[in-house]
Amino acid sequence: MSPADFERTARPDGWWRSAVVYQIYPRSFQDSNGDGVGDIPGITSRLDYLAELGVDVLWLSPVYRSPQVDNGYDISDYHDVDPLFGTLADLDELIAAAHQRGLKLIMDLVVNHTSDQHPWFIESREPGSAKRDWYFWRPARPGHEPGTPGAEPDDAHAAFAPSAWTYDPRSGEYYLGIFSPGQPDLNWENPQVRHAVHAMMRWWIDRGVDGFRMDVINLISKPSALTSGEALDPSPAGFGQIANGPRLDEFLVEMNREVGLDAQNLLTVGEMPGATVEVARRVTDPARHELNMVFTFEHVNLDQVGWNKWELADLPLPRLKENLAQWQDGLAEAGWNSLYYDNHDQPRAVSRFGDDSAEHRVNSAKTLATVLHLHKGTPYIYQGEEFGMTNAPLTHIAHYLDVESLNYHARASAAGVEEDQILRSLARKGRDHARTPVQWDDTPYAGFTTDIPWMPVNPNYIEINAAAALRDPGSVFAHFQQLIRLRHSDEVVREGRFELLLSDHDQVWAFTRTLGDQVLLIVANCSSVPAELPVDSLPDLDRAELILGTHPDGTSAVLGPWESRVLRLAS
Ligand code: GLC
Repeated sequence: MSPADFERTARPDGWWRSAVVYQIYPRSFQDSNGDGVGDIPGITSRLDYLAELGVDVLWLSPVYRSPQVDNGYDISDYHDVDPLFGTLADLDELIAAAHQRGLKLIMDLVVNHTSDQHPWFIESREPGSAKRDWYFWRPARPGHEPGTPGAEPDDAHAAFAPSAWTYDPRSGEYYLGIFSPGQPDLNWENPQVRHAVHAMMRWWIDRGVDGFRMDVINLISKPSALTSGEALDPSPAGFGQIANGPRLDEFLVEMNREVGLDAQNLLTVGEMPGATVEVARRVTDPARHELNMVFTFEHVNLDQVGWNKWELADLPLPRLKENLAQWQDGLAEAGWNSLYYDNHDQPRAVSRFGDDSAEHRVNSAKTLATVLHLHKGTPYIYQGEEFGMTNAPLTHIAHYLDVESLNYHARASAAGVEEDQILRSLARKGRDHARTPVQWDDTPYAGFTTDIPWMPVNPNYIEINAAAALRDPGSVFAHFQQLIRLRHSDEVVREGRFELLLSDHDQVWAFTRTLGDQVLLIVANCSSVPAELPVDSLPDLDRAELILGTHPDGTSAVLGPWESRVLRLAS
């Protein structure tokens, strides 16, 4: 290996603290063979674009073999690529081509559950098999005929199905699938399961990957109620009961050690619905050797009532900024934050937290990005976010493809909820918004494919597309480039202490980042009307230098709609 190659592929201690991660949802990123589904060679063909954006790491949503019940989050072979996305050789090529450009690549690790088509599960269905205990099997509820309505072991719902229990006539028992029947939960209490997962992770590291994004990883240690055979809580909050189980830390420490995660400086980020700041502080404390960082759900659950994502609630700005600030404070001394608004499970940030009208889309996308990227932690960009892609006009149930949305529609309709109300919730929170194809240019199908795409392209691709953004020095894309550069070049952005200002202000998001005698002040108008800067409650702006702003004149005492400024204060 030449010194230059070594430099490009090296993972120095803590490298991920200055990194920006870009998430790719392969199915919707770029099709290369005209079948309407994005694929791995398509990703490789777009690496120069990603290098131009300036990100450091690519996170690939699952490309493993899968029946695609949940678009690949149901894996039937951890050691192969689904033909839909290409071949292992294509993936090797992608990893090498990424490394050549100084980009690292992390895989999605989905090990809370497998597909029901995974050979482990197929074997487990045999009652006397050595793998019976690799999953959770339970008899019918006492006094009920197995397989009849109401005979499930308890009333717990699955995230994407009416019951968490699925009847298997072969043995007359039920298995647990807290997402859907196609996603049976692995039993991590069994050490053989853990060893098999560790071996698989080592295999991927040997192939050259730089880390893992771990799907719902805080659900792997099931609550003792379940492991001792008691009933699960059937309410939506029951999901909270399943999270952060008693052996979570033990399993993560063991995984880290057995796989050599920290020893090899791999990036590890755990998706953790239901994790509190306290859990995150523990799990990401470097001294404990569990994970580098976690994805919290708290801020993306604020526009709903409790655990029910379909029950919509207003989200005043102070609640959002206070929540992020709480995580900044909670992880200030030990641990590390990941920073995100968007991913393949969330509606588009500019439509959700910003204003996606023609007048305000660009500035609101820039300002939201400014705020997020100036927090302390590792920022994540979701494909299309970097040029301000919006929610799609999904107005009829026939427009939805996602298993979660379809299940919600069926359940709510059966419960008598009005169609209008169901569609309103879906239009606000449905995961399909994130999954429309990336809008590369204004040619047919937005340059994503040459044939009918698996999911329709958002019709606004004529105006909103990557090619147009690349041509425009004032684009959202150009702003993201600047934010990424700033993180790379400025130690205050990476390591500075965070302090929220004006916490009650319902338009202005303001905070400082401080490292030694260096101070950055960020002020952002998160509304579509002008906002007066309450200068008396802010540090002295007289000798402040504007280092990044959305508007040319960054000195006025009034912030324009969706105007933001990053100011360096004189020391
Ligand atoms: C995670 C994934 C989501 C998936 C679920 C079950 O939340 O991000 O897409 O449906 O886990 O694997």
